[in-house]
Amino acid sequence: MTPQDYEYLRKLLKERSGLDLSADKQYLVESRLMPLARKAGLGGIPELAQKMKGGAATLTSEVVEAMTTNETFFFRDKIPFDHLKQTVLPELIQARAARRSIRIWCAASSTGQEPYSIAMCLKEMGAALSGWRTEIVATDLSVGVLEKSKAGMFSQFEVQRGLPIQLLVKYFTQQGELWQLNADIRAMVQHKQLNLLQDFSHLGKFDIIFCRNVLIYFDQGTKASIFDRVSRILEPDGVLALGAAESVVGISDAFKPSPDRRGLYRTNPARGAGGAPVFPFKATASAR
Ligand SMILES: C[S@@+](CC[C@H](N)C(=O)[O-])C[C@H]1O[C@@H](n2cnc3c(N)ncnc32)[C@H](O)[C@@H]1O
Repeated sequence: MTPQDYEYLRKLLKERSGLDLSADKQYLVESRLMPLARKAGLGGIPELAQKMKGGAATLTSEVVEAMTTNETFFFRDKIPFDHLKQTVLPELIQARAARRSIRIWCAASSTGQEPYSIAMCLKEMGAALSGWRTEIVATDLSVGVLEKSKAGMFSQFEVQRGLPIQLLVKYFTQQGELWQLNADIRAMVQHKQLNLLQDFSHLGKFDIIFCRNVLIYFDQGTKASIFDRVSRILEPDGVLALGAAESVVGISDAFKPSPDRRGLYRTNPARGAGGAPVFPFKATASAR
């Protein structure tokens, strides 16, 4: 690949998906895109770039998808899910007692392990949520991962990563070498294709937003813009969960870390996020 081809691909990926590749990631581009070039009957990356410059839209989308990292597993990092079951959901159940509905957005949901982990947490709340309307919206840039997520079919390797055996037995059915997630859990999750670089205000307001292990691939400006727009669709007493290697600190003042709940954030009332009314930050009241 020539330096010009690399620059072309770098710029395109930044514009299309937010992926911020440093100058020395040619090896990554080669390893991810060579299989795609071969599949398309092309000699290599220069020919692939040439086709894309010629306006091959489907091929370009495939290139963007092939460059995304889809690594995920059930109950990843464990702690956010413990918080969800032990404090976040019990508090929301009290706060939403009149409305009896909870909306959760799982942004960058990959192959489904994250939104389905959330769905199992809701199910495990048992009678406390019986008769409630619970909505989990799972979105991702990649159509391929969303298709796999919708199918709810996981390999032995995938179910061995993070999923407690009791939940495997309770919510999955073995089908040959694969495990099918039961229909009632699958039905709790709606899937939509969505690029975080684009407007997502049409999704409506959410009580909980999981946006984990995707912002690490973006530059500071892109992260700040996403935090700002996420803060506008999170309810004032809602919760944002980020990945273990992610934080708002030094990037955005739209959110404040929850003092004793690692990985969880609340909108920053000092900022009056999204023009929303300023609510007192319930850090001490909600901290247990
Ligand atoms: C590493 S996975 C994280 C999955 C899950 N959130 C977790 O923490 O296990 C990152 C996901 O972000 C998606 N992604 C990358 N760029 C995106 C964008 N601009 N908009 C939406 N999703 C994006 C990828 O397709 C991929 O599925």
